[in-house]
Amino acid sequence: MLKPLVKFLCATALTSAVLAQDLFIASPPPYTILLAGSQVTVQLVDKSPHNRADVWIGIEYCKSGSQCPDVLQDPGQILYTGPYTPGHHEDADYAYQNMTVTIPSSWPSGLAQLGAVMIWGLGAGQDDAARVILDVVSSK
Ligand SMILES: *[C@@H]1O[C@H](CO)[C@@H](O)[C@H](O)[C@H]1NC(C)=O
Repeated sequence: MLKPLVKFLCATALTSAVLAQDLFIASPPPYTILLAGSQVTVQLVDKSPHNRADVWIGIEYCKSGSQCPDVLQDPGQILYTGPYTPGHHEDADYAYQNMTVTIPSSWPSGLAQLGAVMIWGLGAGQDDAARVILDVVSSK
């Protein structure tokens, strides 16, 4: 189990350039309606995984579907931080990691951006981000 994984990590470490579209949120789909206070599974896919990264998942308000803050400048309210260790699963073509986050219970109704920011290991490359717009319904 460990040997193929080490080989895989060594091979991917040599692939230097990471394109932004290689990182994406496969789930929840855009404009998913979620109740404030509820949990959601964030499925983060990386088509060209690096050997070492941390991920931050944050949520922030949007003015409209096309006007959300730049998640790399401001990830918003952080819901999750931890290592990004995507795995290969039978139900997907690319390696992914599921992370469960909770939408804050006091979050107001409206469009919100869920953003995942990847922090590569020191010197391994530029930070990268993926985003999805959600439609949050206040629980009040
Ligand atoms: C990851 O989450 C998705 C969506 O909830 C689910 O369909 C899938 O089975 C999960 N995969 C794993 C490995 O838990």
